[in-house]
Amino acid sequence: MATVPYEDLEVLYTRQQIAARVAEMGAEITRDLKGEKLVMVGVLKGAAPFLADLARTVDVDATFDFVATSSYGKGLRSSGAVKLIKDLDEPIEGKNVLVVEDILDTGLTLAYLRKLLLQQRPKTLRIAALLDKPSRRIEKIEADYVGFSIPNLFVIGYGMDYAERYRNLPDICLMTPDHPE
Ligand code: PRP
Repeated sequence: MATVPYEDLEVLYTRQQIAARVAEMGAEITRDLKGEKLVMVGVLKGAAPFLADLARTVDVDATFDFVATSSYGKGLRSSGAVKLIKDLDEPIEGKNVLVVEDILDTGLTLAYLRKLLLQQRPKTLRIAALLDKPSRRIEKIEADYVGFSIPNLFVIGYGMDYAERYRNLPDICLMTPDHPE
């Protein structure tokens, strides 16, 4: 795909809309976990900006950890072939865990991660997804906290990429057919 100048991209959610919604999610998480300790587990790479922002709106004693998964390329995703390429640094047994994802799409990644993390017997396991595309779901899984529920759009920015690019866009934008390869 040719380079699309940032100013030509169509914005789906502005940085202000994202910040406002993330603050609401943080307040909800704070209410649910008040007085508890929390391990926030970011799923690399897309969740990095969301985790950084969400963490600063959550008023609980929190630590960070990160995992990374690989799906053998998007085209094969429906095969369900997700594998772990970076594990947690610390055990989560007996801990409150919040998995932080930029987007919940087919659900294959989070279904795989949930099963894997539950094997460690955390005290609680919750999921926060900034975006949710329910129409794409293959695995039966829902997030406990959802920022925005969206139709099947190709979104980039705020951590989300097209061929590894656009992750640093502060707004969530659309990769539209107006910008062909
Ligand atoms: C994206 C996103 C989720 C996953 C969701 O990650 O960050 O981890 O896809 O899709 P699913 O519900 O269909 O499994 P991706 O594999 O593109 O890696 P990235 O975060 O490094 O961009």
